Amino acid sequence: EQINKGKYEHYMQKEIHEQPDSLTTTMRGRLIRGGSCKAKSVLLGGLKDHLKTIRRSRRIVFIGCGTSYNAALAARPILEELSGIPVTLEIASDLLDRQGPIYREDTTVFVSQSGETADTLQALEYALENGALCVGITNTVGSAIARTTHCGVHINAGCEIGVASTKAYTSQIVVMAMLALAIGDDTISSQTRREAIIDGLFDLPSKLKEVLKLDEEMKDLARLLIAEQSLLVFGRGYNYATALEGALKVKEVALMHSEGILAGEMKHGPLALVDETLPIVVVATRDACFSKQQSVIHQLHARKGRLIVMCTKGDAASVCVGGSCRVIEVPQVEDCLQPVINIVPLQLLAYHLTVLRGHNVDQPRNLAKSVTTQ
Ligand code: G6P
Repeated sequence: EQINKGKYEHYMQKEIHEQPDSLTTTMRGRLIRGGSCKAKSVLLGGLKDHLKTIRRSRRIVFIGCGTSYNAALAARPILEELSGIPVTLEIASDLLDRQGPIYREDTTVFVSQSGETADTLQALEYALENGALCVGITNTVGSAIARTTHCGVHINAGCEIGVASTKAYTSQIVVMAMLALAIGDDTISSQTRREAIIDGLFDLPSKLKEVLKLDEEMKDLARLLIAEQSLLVFGRGYNYATALEGALKVKEVALMHSEGILAGEMKHGPLALVDETLPIVVVATRDACFSKQQSVIHQLHARKGRLIVMCTKGDAASVCVGGSCRVIEVPQVEDCLQPVINIVPLQLLAYHLTVLRGHNVDQPRNLAKSVTTQ
């Protein structure tokens, strides 16, 4: 049943719309809301014998490719905040090319939907040789990465068929947010924040349903962008990953050039591209970076940029300079979980662009779901 398209035309479309359910399954049995005496907490059974070692590690290194790497990028801020341990990210092939240092005192976390990606698997073997603790975050029980790691967490997102990863991405972020809660100390000073994140996780499926209502709006936007050569996506902080992942979706399925840009780097190159023709999505939802993003919007506007701003519901007036930009309003969630919501309109945009441009949605040319050769 899981692998037919049901009422949908394509697997990618089905998998985008399935996200309220896949997130529910990812969190099932792992979040404890607590009654009057029980505190809110997280239970990750696959890690319970290794949490002490993880907490004592001198560094946590996340390793993956493509969308799985982007998911780790989205979760890094909350992992750093709650664990207090330096968190670094590695694209598997790059770690292998450099033979970068991995130590016994490191925890390495291998993020892979399929659990079979050749570069990630080889990086895992490399980390094992170097004596690091190896943790897997995969969607495939019994996969090579799940079998080879010391311990791990299954994301339980259900079978993903579309080559472009969608529901696995949001489930991976949620698992890493739960991992951050599991590693972090449950101190009095962190209690309010931890509880807000747990409440936020519980609310995610309903917020996901809400953001999926943007489907028609994203189809309209796709109609507007159908003939474009290129699309830039600006993000920062929690949503730097949204920019990279949104651009990756557009390029891999719609076959349109697209680039995710760290907004803080705007003046170091990307600004030269801005004119009245190139469409630019700016992710500017409410978080600690909001005023910086407002300033980015002003600067892009001053250069006549063609702006599409993603903002928190009710914020259209504060982000739309001169009333000339297009706005995508999304529901607000706890800041560190906002990437789970913000990617959805961009998944929908990539999907509709692909259909309208007449390309193969589920099997984009030259790409494979699981890259098992190097
Ligand atoms: C391929 C797929 C991507 C995926 C990447 C990593 O490129 O097309 O959707 O993100 O591999 O795959 P993994 O299974 O390791 O997450």
